[in-house]
Amino acid sequence: MKHIVVLTGAGMSAESGIATFRDSGGLWEQHAVEDVATPEGFARNPKLVLDFYNARRRAAFAAVPNQGHIGLADMEKDYKVSIITQNVDDLHERAGSTSVLHLHGELNKMRSTVDPSLIYTLTADNPEIHLGDKCEKGSQLRPHIVWFGEAVPMIEDAIRIVRKADVLVVIGTSLNVYPAAGLLGYAPSGIPVYLIDPNDVKAYQPEIHFIKKGASEGVGELRRLLDSSCKK
Ligand code: APR
Repeated sequence: MKHIVVLTGAGMSAESGIATFRDSGGLWEQHAVEDVATPEGFARNPKLVLDFYNARRRAAFAAVPNQGHIGLADMEKDYKVSIITQNVDDLHERAGSTSVLHLHGELNKMRSTVDPSLIYTLTADNPEIHLGDKCEKGSQLRPHIVWFGEAVPMIEDAIRIVRKADVLVVIGTSLNVYPAAGLLGYAPSGIPVYLIDPNDVKAYQPEIHFIKKGASEGVGELRRLLDSSCKK
């Protein structure tokens, strides 16, 4: 089975109604990154940060997977599919994808501020973290999210996966943020690379096959292209 490695970003979930970051009206137009997505911001005003992620978590729980998520999950019938996502929602999992690596953390998890190995699950019935919510060691709980300036613990695993790709697919990311964007550089040379995005994206890899469509339509076109090229 061909191994399809898919790197997704916020645009993957746009058609599920979840805001992207850098499109017009995106999250970074509404909030200063340094206030809500850095350890310094959390130290300065933890309630603001907890409220920011509580709102995003409620929106994510209310969203449903779109045809793009569902199409990627369906691809597992004919291909080995590994998803590496920058997204913190669980829409890939809820669509049925079985191999999902979250580079930037997960909204439906929270963790201790004194012991990062203490991780707890949040649900739609219990979606919020509040000041005073403590771990079993008595320290404040925080979102299980990789903030700007923090290490990306899953990046080495992600590199290992990309190195074993037969096909690389990039969906819904502006490729602005490293080390995630740098993953394209680890793809074996000469493999097909597809990029699905309704807008232009600066990508410096040679031979990228651009599918200038949204995720739902684009994944459908990608599947047809793969089936025709991989079945030759
Ligand atoms: N289908 C596919 N792509 C879309 C759609 C859609 N319907 N709508 C928008 N896009 C594309 C945009 O054109 C853009 O290229 O999705 C991309 C979103 O880019 P960003 O908002 O920069 O999101 P992302 O690349 O995921 O950001 C990376 O930055 O702030 C951090 O941690 C955050 O994981 C995030 C990282």
